[in-house]
Amino acid sequence: MSNQDKLIIFDTTLRDGEQSPGASMTRDEKVRIARALERMRVDVIEAGFPIASPGDFEAVQAVARAVQDSTVCGLARALDKDIDQAGEALKPAASARIHTFIATSPIHMQMKLRMQPEQVIEQAVHAVKRARGFTDNVEFSPEDAGRSETDFLCRVIEAVIDAGASTINIPDTVGYNLPHQFGELVRTLIERVPNSDKAVFSVHCHNDLGLAVGNSLSAVLNGARQVECTINGLGERAGNASLEEVVMAVRTRQDLFPCDTRLDTTQIMTCSRLVSGITGFSVQPNKAIVGANAFAHESGIHQDGVLKSRETYEIMRAQDVGWAANRIVLGKHSGRNAFRTRLQELGIEFAAEEELNNAFSRFKDLADKKHEIFDEDLQALVTESGLESANDWLKLVALKVCSETGETPHAHLTLWEDGEEKLVDSVGSGPVDAAFRAIEALINSGTELQLYSVNNITSGTDSQGEVTVRLQKGGRIVNGQGADTDIVIASAKAYVNAINKIIQRDERAHPQLGDV
Ligand code: KIV
Ligand code: ZN
Repeated sequence: MSNQDKLIIFDTTLRDGEQSPGASMTRDEKVRIARALERMRVDVIEAGFPIASPGDFEAVQAVARAVQDSTVCGLARALDKDIDQAGEALKPAASARIHTFIATSPIHMQMKLRMQPEQVIEQAVHAVKRARGFTDNVEFSPEDAGRSETDFLCRVIEAVIDAGASTINIPDTVGYNLPHQFGELVRTLIERVPNSDKAVFSVHCHNDLGLAVGNSLSAVLNGARQVECTINGLGERAGNASLEEVVMAVRTRQDLFPCDTRLDTTQIMTCSRLVSGITGFSVQPNKAIVGANAFAHESGIHQDGVLKSRETYEIMRAQDVGWAANRIVLGKHSGRNAFRTRLQELGIEFAAEEELNNAFSRFKDLADKKHEIFDEDLQALVTESGLESANDWLKLVALKVCSETGETPHAHLTLWEDGEEKLVDSVGSGPVDAAFRAIEALINSGTELQLYSVNNITSGTDSQGEVTVRLQKGGRIVNGQGADTDIVIASAKAYVNAINKIIQRDERAHPQLGDV
């Protein structure tokens, strides 16, 4: 593929995606997602914002160590301390990129930065030069480009390319642009910036008006050769352009696009499930490509058409994005080798034998309750193994719930709290409420429940329920997850997981707000 034919996919699930309230990920979770992205052949993985906190620094460093075949990128404001932290965190990477940015729109320069345009250019140039001290692969973003003046953007871009930036990313930070307008902006910049041929033009679109994918595709038709996107469209506010939609639009409409990605699209569903499992952000059923209904045909007319000829109503093949009909992959009698092999086929590998043993013993427990184990069950099970850590302050030991017509539901709970086993009883308006009240009776966390949701992992009443609990305390928001064939137990696991996260989470800074 020549540079012009190649569309670079820059995934920012681990950075912008993580900026969604409650979507924060641990270092190990980031490494698991990064490995799945690498397997899908994503070109660049933005692993985080290293200056934000020691935890973020370590996560970027761990991803840099784990990934070999994708470039690993770290975000840095146009500040020396940010760039140095990013450079340091990326040292172990086989291929590293520093992504530095500063705002260029009048409103951001005046209200947020309180800087004159000339100072912004100077700082941008300085930042790119400093980043070049760590790597040749430097990306620059004029933040809020979608609301910046075109003449000023041209000046900034020319200066940072001269300073050594090899990727120029045009963000529609607030999701304000319309597709024809955004495409036009990208075309104008490429035409008017005299040294534009020395850089790849990229776009980063937010979805506030539901146009992130449309804007990204319009930019590609107008010369952009990198798209920044996230799995399931996760991201700040309404999210970023969804990777799976961008990639499949370009692949499906090769009659219109002069370029294509190198992605192995059959990995899309694995990545989608992994990200929703880890973050607790479930995918709506009618979401394009990865929603449960994306390839389902409800109406009789459609079904008849599809049975006669798939192309009547389907423009893509479900298996090309990794949808396999619910396959029974393993059962009660499957051994460790079969378990390990199927997980490897799903792109899941364990760093330590102990983790495999732990997951295998959970698998055996599950197989006792549920005879048919599907790929989705395995993914949930592994996500759950990853959710528990040796440092957890709270562990669910046992839960008994009595629920009967006409009687008040009652929970009897055993929790392990900081090394001590404790028992408590509670009542509630329903069995889940009773279980949550029992946990709170013991720990009195002072958190506020913001969201409670249950999804079935596979079809059938014997399916595991996957529960997400979102808790808020002092402005911090976390999502906890739990899965079990018993949804009350899944709920208690999710609540305990959220409590552990809210306790462990260190303070971190947001790249686009405030100082560090
Ligand atoms: O939306 C945005 O402008 C960003 C930048 C940091 C690229 O996320
Ligand atoms: Zn963004």
